[in-house]
Parts: sequence; C-alpha cells; structure tokens
Amino acid sequence: MTFADYVDLRRAEIEAALNGFLPAPPDVPAVVADAMRYSLMAGGKRLRPLLVLAGAEGVARTVGGSEAAARAAAMPAACALEMIHTYSLIHDDLPAMDDDDLRRGRPTSHVVYGEGLAILAGDGLQAEAFSLLAREPQGHHPVLMTRKLRTLALIAGAAGPAGMVGGQAIDLAAVSPAPGVNAVALDPAGLQAMHLRKTGALIRAAVVAGAVMAGADERLTAAVDEYGKEIGLAFQIVDDILDVEGAAATLGKTAGKDQVAGKPTYPAFFGLDQARTLAAGCHTRARQALDRAGLLESRLDEIATWIIKRDK
Ligand code: IPE
Ligand code: IPE
Ligand code: MG
Ligand code: MG
Ligand code: MG
Repeated sequence: MTFADYVDLRRAEIEAALNGFLPAPPDVPAVVADAMRYSLMAGGKRLRPLLVLAGAEGVARTVGGSEAAARAAAMPAACALEMIHTYSLIHDDLPAMDDDDLRRGRPTSHVVYGEGLAILAGDGLQAEAFSLLAREPQGHHPVLMTRKLRTLALIAGAAGPAGMVGGQAIDLAAVSPAPGVNAVALDPAGLQAMHLRKTGALIRAAVVAGAVMAGADERLTAAVDEYGKEIGLAFQIVDDILDVEGAAATLGKTAGKDQVAGKPTYPAFFGLDQARTLAAGCHTRARQALDRAGLLESRLDEIATWIIKRDK
C-alpha cells in the first residue's frame, strides 16, 4: 500500500471513531455539542491520531502481536489526542491568544459561536478526551488497565502545564503579557523549549501512547519517545516556516501572522534556510531513533518525512 493510500485508509477509520466518540444530545446540550462537532469534524490532517496508530502497529510488528488488535487498542487514545489538539486550536485562535478567524478552512469557533461558547467547546473536548481514555478500551484485565492508566497519565502530562499549556503560556508571555508587564525575551534555547512544549509534547505523547497500548517494553518506548520528541519539534519549526511561505488557501488558516504579531519563531530567530536545516537535523535524529528500535521499516519513517516535506 502506498503511503497516501495508507493515510487515507487510517484517516477514514479515525473520522468514524471520532464521530462515534463525540457526545450528542440528549446526553449533552445541543448548543455545546454542535460547537464541539464543528471544530472536531472540520477535517485537519489527523497527524496525532495517525501517529498513535502507526506507533501501535510498528510496535505490534516488532513484538510479534496483531497489528489490527494493536490499532483497536490504541484508537481511543488516538481520538482523545485529536480532541485535546482541537481544543488547543480553538483556544489558540481566541482573541485573547492569537486572534485568528480562519481554522481548518472555516471561520474559527469564536467567530461562529462567540467567545464564551468557544471556550466551553474547548473545555468540553478536553474533558471528553479524558473520559474516553478512562472508559475505552473496556475490560478489567490488569495488563489492559495498566496500559490505559499509563497512557492517561502521559497524555495528561503532555496536555497540561508541563506540556502544551506550559508552552502556550511561554508563547503568550513572549508577545502579549498583561498590561504593564514586559514581554519575556526568549533566547534560542528558550524558543526550542517553548516549541517542544506547545506542539512537541502532544505529538510525542501520541506516538508513545500508541507504543504503550501495543505493549512496548522500556527500550522500545524510549526509542519511540526520542523519535516523537524530534518530529514534534520539527513539526512546529515547519509550521513556523509555512506561516511565512504558505498560503491561506492551502493551509486552511491565515498565513503571515507570526511576523505581524512579533511571535518568537524559528524563521524570525534563524532565517528560513537555517530553520529548514534545523528541522532536517530533527528528521535525521528521529530516523536514528527509529533505527535503534528496528522501526525504520514502519509507517513512522514515512510520517517523519511527510512532516518535513508538507505544504499544509
Ligand atoms: C496546528 O496543528 C497547530 C500546531 C500545533 C502547529 P496541525 O497543523 O496539526 O493542524 P490540523 O490538525 O491539521 O488542523
Ligand atoms: C499553536 O502554535 C500550538 C498550539 C498548541 C495550538 P501556533 O499558534 O503557531 O499554531 P497555528 O499556526 O495557529 O496553527
Ligand atoms: Mg499560537
Ligand atoms: Mg495560532
Ligand atoms: Mg503557527
């Protein structure tokens, strides 16, 4: 199967699973259910769930398990991560943060539903994600329960102040601090640390969650974690580059905003060419980590290349 066909196939499975896991009336009020659905089912690359599934498959093959069973075990984590990622996008676009009016090719949540409901749709998606991680896959076998709990803890850590929320807080402090407070200047190490948290953490957690749900041992988990760290950083470096070079029609979000907003980005710090070189270095180290784990033949290698070469 070509990589493009593989992505199409898995994306269709992810869309169906997300649709099934989204809460609906009468369990939840239509007003918030609609806003959650609007952003979650608006397309998007589904990179994080794809990483969960590819991580699970790669590990299953390495440990001699069923790839289909590993994917099924990992699908709730895949969907939970996409819910958390979508919540982070809704909040990232709010007037109090990046103030964007285009996302996934559509008007942003707060433009359609108002700020209050956009905040609540994000909150709702985050809570549902953790509810899903606690519930699914169902079963009381101690092995399953241990893997679920590890996955829940690692995703909570990646979503919270040590991860995405922490990175977003650094981003905010660097550009739009509270009235009367000076912006916090970043050096290159600080920029890298911000990117590793705000975007890297959820991407890293995605591939590790897939590995854990498929029964990876410590050595395999550590190698997958290293791969996730490198491609997570590369992903945000490329996002910064695309903000400079990309077009809204392709990206589905407004381009050229980072410079106007004075955001700390890789192109702003290093220039486009050096930013590209730094992303390529992440790619090389990610592939070395896969090689150590015997996972160079897995879809994870193709996903890493896609992250570097993408135009949206
Ligand atoms: C955008 O993420 C926000 C960042 C973390 C850079 P994606 O580029 O994965 O957005 P979607 O999910 O495809 O819309
Ligand atoms: C956002 O980074 C990272 C998140 C945690 C959502 P950006 O602010 O660069 O993401 P885009 O460019 O708006 O998608
Ligand atoms: Mg932002
Ligand atoms: Mg933004
Ligand atoms: Mg960006």
